[in-house]
Amino acid sequence: MRYLRRLLPYVRRHRARIAGGLLCLVLTTALSVASPWVLRYAVDDLTLRVTREKLWLYSGLIVGLVLLEGVFRYYMRMVLISVSREIEYELRGDLFAHLTRLSARYYQSHRVGDIMSRATNDMSAVRNVLGPGIMYTANTVATFVGTVALMLRISPRLLGLALVPLALVSILVRYFGQRIHDRFESVQAQLAEMNVIVQESLSGARVVRAYAQEPHEVARFEAANQEYVRRNRGLIHMFGALYPGIQLLMGTGAVLVLWLGGRMAVAGRITLGEFVAFGAYLAMLHWPMIALGWVVNIFERGEASMGRIAEMLDAPPEIHDDQPEPVARLQGEVEFRSLTFAYDGVPVLRDIDLKVPAGATVAVVGPTGSGKSTLVSLIPRLYEAPPGTVYVDGHDVRRIPLATLRGAVGFVPQETFLFSDTVRENVAFGLSPDGQEVEERVAWAAGVAQLAPDVADFPQGYDTFVGERGITLSGGQKQRTALARALAVLPRILVLDDALSAVDTYTEEGILKGLKQVRSGRTTFLVSHRVSTVKDADLIVVLRDGRIVERGTHDELVSRGGFYADLHRRQLLEEEVERTA
Ligand SMILES: Nc1ncnc2c1ncn2[C@@H]1O[C@H](COP(=O)(O)OP(=O)(O)O)[C@@H](O)[C@H]1O
Ligand SMILES: [Mg+2]
Repeated sequence: MRYLRRLLPYVRRHRARIAGGLLCLVLTTALSVASPWVLRYAVDDLTLRVTREKLWLYSGLIVGLVLLEGVFRYYMRMVLISVSREIEYELRGDLFAHLTRLSARYYQSHRVGDIMSRATNDMSAVRNVLGPGIMYTANTVATFVGTVALMLRISPRLLGLALVPLALVSILVRYFGQRIHDRFESVQAQLAEMNVIVQESLSGARVVRAYAQEPHEVARFEAANQEYVRRNRGLIHMFGALYPGIQLLMGTGAVLVLWLGGRMAVAGRITLGEFVAFGAYLAMLHWPMIALGWVVNIFERGEASMGRIAEMLDAPPEIHDDQPEPVARLQGEVEFRSLTFAYDGVPVLRDIDLKVPAGATVAVVGPTGSGKSTLVSLIPRLYEAPPGTVYVDGHDVRRIPLATLRGAVGFVPQETFLFSDTVRENVAFGLSPDGQEVEERVAWAAGVAQLAPDVADFPQGYDTFVGERGITLSGGQKQRTALARALAVLPRILVLDDALSAVDTYTEEGILKGLKQVRSGRTTFLVSHRVSTVKDADLIVVLRDGRIVERGTHDELVSRGGFYADLHRRQLLEEEVERTA
């Protein structure tokens, strides 16, 4: 129970209610073991003489006991099961909050489908421990103690005989427990695998269609699906053998008790009433014993699932505040000082020295894979640069409170992501919601990003849903929505990572013109491979294989005749060809 122990702090918070629920449980059990005891007196008394009054008395007593038991059983379930739901709620909330803090790197090494499976299936397996698991365990213990104590009073010999098969039940359960645990693990793993396949196949629906790979995807799913059934069959196999085994042992116990108990009753060593009550208690032990097998299983599953959840909870948020300096506002000066950066040991940026004054516009050009995206993603600490290499306003970015740092950076990533929500919500994503101002800010940002004319054509304007179950935007529209989202927060530092690549040059020109007014006073990083995008930048740097190989203004670089001049020449030529075509 190494992992389940981690639930203790949650359980402790609800201890008063759990205690109440357990009290109800004890009362329920006490009332239920009382019935056969009444039955015992009833049988003995009625064998002497049957009268109407006696019949009413005993049957009334038993009905009363059962009714009262029902009431307490209701409260027991209400309390214990709802507490388990509440703990599940808290744990799930904590898990999600933790997932939001994990860094980009975590999501690169873990598949979303797998995470989803843990957050849902494993979570409910853990919940089963807290609700049914604890309830049935307590119920089993209480019933066992109650019945065995009373059976002992009737006849220790008979009890000894009845307990032999019951002990065998425990052994049977333990034997199967480990096997069930292993098979359940493999079933869960396969379910996660299936989730991954479905999730990838659905999010990649367009690619699948475009390559006419539907049959392949179906076959891939079919194989995984079949494996899931096969593994489940292994689990069913275990259960299939376990339950009849328990039944057989129980039956044997009942036969033994009938045989010996019957002889004892005939010989007058126990009364008929005691014999009847004993049989009733033995029957009452059946369910708890079966529940025991079940409970073992619930705990095994819960332990395995909690292990998987704990693994996520223990993943450290690599990037977090670490004794930050009290920096409240940033101006936007960015500096890289002899920055060398590696992903998993492979250096992708080398000896980068670059100082960008607040308000300046710097363009980064270079071939794919030269490290442009990496460079800009180090500014808002999407990845962690070594200490003393990246500075904003003279503070190491590691020393600036994350909220301040990221709040000052408007980042438009190379790959656009929009939420399946309205255009307005997507643009207003980084804003704290307060009515009128948000409305104006959204409209303004959409204007600068040249998104407004498109929105005007949408059926419900800014209330149009985009993405899933909404209208699907073109690549350029998506990019402009993402740009508007970044502009809306009025960032001190604006980063456009090839963010206009899907926008046509004409619209781009409009955007850049608009940006220029916005840009004044805002440090801007323009990553692009289009000369037209970057030519007006205050400074252009050319990256190759992670090194800055050229730097200067457009005119300077063109006259230098290096990579940039080459790029410029080729793009002029392309334009020429386009114009004459
Ligand atoms: N998250 C990552 N993990 C490991 N390697 C990466 C990661 N992102 C990029 N790379 C590698 O780093 C190099 C630079 O990539 P990138 O910064 O995306 O270049 P660019 O934006 O100029 O195309 C490439 O060789 C790429 O394969
Ligand atoms: Mg890139």
